[in-house]
Amino acid sequence: MFITFEGIEGTGKTTQIAKVRDYFEAQGREVFLTLEPGGSRVGRDLRKMLLHVDNKDLTPITELFLYLADRAQHVAQVIRPELEAGKVVLCDRFADSTVVYQGYGRGLETKVLHQLNEVAVDGLWPDLTVVLDIDPEIGLKRATLRNLEEGKAKEEGRFEAEHLTFHKRIREGYLTWAALHRDRIRVVNASASQDEVFDRIRDAIESALTEKK
Ligand code: TYD
Repeated sequence: MFITFEGIEGTGKTTQIAKVRDYFEAQGREVFLTLEPGGSRVGRDLRKMLLHVDNKDLTPITELFLYLADRAQHVAQVIRPELEAGKVVLCDRFADSTVVYQGYGRGLETKVLHQLNEVAVDGLWPDLTVVLDIDPEIGLKRATLRNLEEGKAKEEGRFEAEHLTFHKRIREGYLTWAALHRDRIRVVNASASQDEVFDRIRDAIESALTEKK
């Protein structure tokens, strides 16, 4: 089973992914955790390039192709082999991030982005995508606090520094995109307690599993 997690910064994605891993492991399943950008060897260099504050001059199209390159390599070298080995693969961000950030965020055409994603994922779409939804003001506050704690504000602070209006657009983008893909994408309200949020994610996983059977 292949599950991806999406949402703006500060939704608690990392915490929830860890809970989902524990849930599957408790059932005796082997779980592989990964992320985008940066889930493959070459991807780790692409991630540095994409998120470094010095690279603010990347054009939206350059950025797009770097994300797509990262995804193509990640799917071929990591995700597909891990799924074929029978593991549950949990991925922090995937193709929907491109549609939402480069499309609804940066203004590139979402239809074209979807087609480019089709090329990058090469037929491998998630069984389920969980969008963690939160008010951007709350999300950004959480993300800024986390960055200060982790001391990563300098290296990877490019996105968090963007305007609140950008994040509002991203949130709306996720909601619009999710409504167009109800068969695969589930929106979960992430402002509740961590346990409540996880309960909702578990429900989504269980219904996706029953649909698969
Ligand atoms: P990251 O530090 O992983 O953010 P988060 O903790 O919020 O997941 O940085 C990834 C950033 O890259 C995030 O702001 C969204 C952006 N992104 C895109 O713009 N397009 C994409 O296709 C992907 C995968 C990520």
